[in-house]
Amino acid sequence: MEIVKVRNYDEMSEKACDLIVEKVNKLDNPVLGLATGSTPEGMYQQMIDSYQKNKVSFTKTTTFNLDEYVGLAGNNPNSYRFYMNEKLFNHIDLPDNRAFLPTGDSDDLQKECRDYETLMYKAEYIDVQVLGLGLNGHIGFNEPGTAFDSRTHIVDLDETTRKANARFFDSLNDVPERAITMGIETIMESKKILLLVSGEKKAEAVYRLVYGETSEEFPASILQKHENVILIADEGALSKL
Ligand code: F6R
Repeated sequence: MEIVKVRNYDEMSEKACDLIVEKVNKLDNPVLGLATGSTPEGMYQQMIDSYQKNKVSFTKTTTFNLDEYVGLAGNNPNSYRFYMNEKLFNHIDLPDNRAFLPTGDSDDLQKECRDYETLMYKAEYIDVQVLGLGLNGHIGFNEPGTAFDSRTHIVDLDETTRKANARFFDSLNDVPERAITMGIETIMESKKILLLVSGEKKAEAVYRLVYGETSEEFPASILQKHENVILIADEGALSKL
């Protein structure tokens, strides 16, 4: 795992954006894996800036998001589809029909999982997958205990994860209890992984990621076994290394 140390959140966002833009400009049909949450917001803003300055175009790009809450339609402001539209998709030239997220309000969730895997398979999987890091080591919504050989599946969200994400909702009760997420094996299929981490509150998780044993109890530890991971982290996040 390559560790890139940056000073702060803004530098992390710029560095991540530069790597994405370089890849998108280099490949004929780039496939990006995207995340939601607080961590990638700055990177998305940088990507919009790069597009507006004509440094990059996304017309040939396909994107797959990691996850979506079960039960939320895409027009629900708390859905990840809504987040992606607001933070990125509405502001760049990525074609609508190539911006994929799992459908959280699907009538047949198992079929939705299978279909999502098929779409990624047809796209020949992901060239660069952006990941944030959960306090409990989750990646996507793969909570501790998720099998390393999991593919896209439905998960019960950890209480800690629901509490951490409650800041985006009116109350904790409104946070969905389930989500649909790419599995760990799906994520590991990505050719390159950009793991972004900012802030001292993630320092313990970063320590376990880098030095901990590889264990399903700390899902992100599997990344030690991926050949092409870049961890871009700021001083706070790296403060325990
Ligand atoms: C989001 C996702 C999650 C987050 C993680 C960190 O699509 O899959 O794994 O990356 O919960 O969230 P933030 O960035 O809000 O600290």
